[in-house]
Formats: sequence, structure tokens, C-alpha cells
Amino acid sequence: MASSIFVFLLAFGCCFVSANASVFTYEQALAKSYELNLSIQKPGADGRTQTLNRKGAASASFDYAMRKFLEFGKGKEILEIGGCYGDVMLQALRQSEADLKQNEATKYVLSDLDERHLFIAARCLSEKIQQNWLHQGSANQVKFIQVDITKAYQIQKLDQYDAVYVGKVFHFFTPEQLELAVKHLFLLLKPEGQIFITALSPYLKHYEKFIPEYERRVSAGEEYPGYIKKLRDYIDISNSTPLQITNMIDETFLFLDPETLKEVFERNGFKVLECKFVPLSHKSKLWHHDGREYVILIAKKEAD
Ligand SMILES: C[S@@+](CC[C@H](N)C(=O)[O-])C[C@H]1O[C@@H](n2cnc3c(N)ncnc32)[C@H](O)[C@@H]1O
Repeated sequence: MASSIFVFLLAFGCCFVSANASVFTYEQALAKSYELNLSIQKPGADGRTQTLNRKGAASASFDYAMRKFLEFGKGKEILEIGGCYGDVMLQALRQSEADLKQNEATKYVLSDLDERHLFIAARCLSEKIQQNWLHQGSANQVKFIQVDITKAYQIQKLDQYDAVYVGKVFHFFTPEQLELAVKHLFLLLKPEGQIFITALSPYLKHYEKFIPEYERRVSAGEEYPGYIKKLRDYIDISNSTPLQITNMIDETFLFLDPETLKEVFERNGFKVLECKFVPLSHKSKLWHHDGREYVILIAKKEAD
């Protein structure tokens, strides 16, 4: 069943988009970074680096699901969705190098909605090679692919993988887009493959005005209690930078909790192995609430 859906999506997609239009080798992505005059972005005081497309910030500190993904993905073919500047990719390449005697080299596909992030990721990889933190051969282990995971016609650019990581991307989606993304993720995994997710919970200090409303909706049994049509109604403006206000104020927002996340993955065929609240992976007075700031999920696609 799943494979026939995949074939349908492939055929459907081919009508609309050329499969390789946004697939880049390391050399191609690096050349693009020079052509577009893109440079490596500087992190802010909390260690996070702002995205170029107003989709939050990338964090360099590794949370629970990222670490589990890196552990499981050693020596395998792995994919990251919304991977931004490639911090997890660099770590995967580094550990692949260290483990090369025991394992085959990891093959890493870094994908993101915004191809400029991928070009900068190639620049970061080039810097690590120049610093001898990674060897030159690492460049042959990666591919960069621009993908919107909510779009069926775009996932034809991807293959099937042993492991997939999606970190801090789901809050940009509506519930309908999340359902689509999870369907696509199922198609992108090999049988016995595993998915690793980090998502934002409503227990974030910056949005704490929303917590009572969220808890009221949970008690009322609402299906997506963390969905907000306008973040403007709940953001703490006194504690926001001008950039955060312009970036997020008119956006929808989808906070997730273990129950909601587990249900959507089970509904779409996954066997959930672990799903729980975990604390922030970086220190932040602005975001820290009570140690339940993130929700992680690890799930498996069972062989037919
Ligand atoms: C908050 S950043 C997180 C970056 C990184 N995963 C991390 O955990 O630090 C969100 C990233 O998701 C990407 N993104 C947003 N919507 C997406 C979509 N529909 N498909 C793929 N990537 C998406 C953005 O371009 C951005 O790079």
C-alpha cells in the first residue's frame, strides 16, 4: 500500500517539477554560496543562529532526539529535514570518520525549505575540512536537497533512508500540513528505519500566556490543543526582540505534546518507541519554563 502511494506521488510530482532542479553536490552547493555571496552566519548570545527565511533559529547544542539520531545513524544512509546550516550533519560526518574502521561511512542528505541554508552548510563543511576537523572525503558523503516536506510533489527528490531527523520544524505547520508531513516521512523511511523528532511544547516561558488556554483545551479533549491561528494573541512582547516580533507575530503556531505527537505518528503507520517531554538543549532565560520545553518522538517503520 505504502509503496503504491509512493509510486503515485513520484508520477504526480514528475508532472510539475524537474527532479534534480534543487539537488546539489558539495561542490555545487559551495559554488552557489560564493555566487550568492552567502557567508557563515554568526550565532547570537544564546548560541542559536537565526535562519535567513524567518523560520526561527538553529541551535548548535544537541538535544535528546538529535543525539539518538546520531547514534542510530552511524554508518547508515540518513536524512535531515529542515536541517538549516548543517550542525547535525557536521557531527555525523565527524563521528563517521572516527568510526570508519568499524563501520561503513555515513551517507548524509541535508535538506531544507530554503536552499540558501544548504549553501551555507556547504560553506561550514568546507571550513571544517580546511581546519582538518573533517577530512576531504567527507564531501563525498553528503548531498544537499531543497525540499518542503509538506508538498507531495517535492518529496520525489528524496530517496528512502535508514533514519530521518526533523528538529524544530513542526511548529510552522497547520494541523493539516503536519498530517501531510508525517505521511511523507513514512514514505521516506526504509522498512525498519527510524524517525527522530524534536518539537516545541507549549511549556515555553516566552509563550506562557498560552499555557492556561492550552490546558483548558486539553481538558476539553481538543484534537490539536496547541494550535494557534495568530501568535500575536499570546506572545510576550515586552520580552521580544524587534526581529522576533516581525518574524512571528502574524504566523500560525503549532505547539505539540507527547499525546498529540504520538497519535499523529501512530495514525500514519509508525510504531512509536519513545515520546516524552525533554528540557531545552541550551540555556535561556527567555525560553526556559519547567523542563518540559521540547517534545521528542522516536518511531519505527515496521517491515511489512
Ligand atoms: C527553527 S529552524 C531549526 C533548524 C534545526 N533543525 C535545529 O533544530 O536547530 C527551522 C528550519 O526548518 C526549515 N523549514 C521550515 N518549514 C519547512 C518545510 N515545510 N519543509 C522543510 N523545512 C522547513 C526552515 O527553513 C529552517 O531552516
